[in-house]
Amino acid sequence: MTGRLIFVLMLALATSSLATSSASAAEGDPARGKAVFQRTCENCHAAVIGVNKVGPSLWNVIDRKPAIVPDFAYSDAMKANKQAWTPTTLDAYLADPRGDVHGVKMFFKGLPNPADRANVIAYLQTLR
Ligand code: HEC
Repeated sequence: MTGRLIFVLMLALATSSLATSSASAAEGDPARGKAVFQRTCENCHAAVIGVNKVGPSLWNVIDRKPAIVPDFAYSDAMKANKQAWTPTTLDAYLADPRGDVHGVKMFFKGLPNPADRANVIAYLQTLR
């Protein structure tokens, strides 16, 4: 009985530490992410609501459906993309924009460095 209880406790501990470590691995630094954004995204994207440049405003982009910013002429490829922008889908998109969503009109080679992606995604999460 005691052995079983200890086993259950150990299992609970193991899974909770696993959850925290994988969460922290995916978590970026918003301050560093802001620098990445200013260096690589801001030419084409505004961080404020209602301002579209070459690309649509990225205000409140996390958990948003693709291609729904008003008054922005999206490509058919982006309109056909039905996956909401979560940290996971953004990570795949930003790694290789034109490979991830074929026909997308974002002429950007992507962010090859996973830390840059995690940081910029952390920054995007602050835009709400
Ligand atoms: C050269 C200009 C350019 C750069 C640089 C650029 N983008 Fe884009 N981005 C676009 C365009 C244009 C679109 C619209 C794509 C379409 O309709 O096919 C877009 C679309 C997006 C979308 C989808 C938005 C939506 O409303 O569905 C996200 C998210 C995004 N970009 C993030 C980023 C991030 C983050 C960076 C910097 C790491 C970045 N982009 C760099 C031009 C750019």
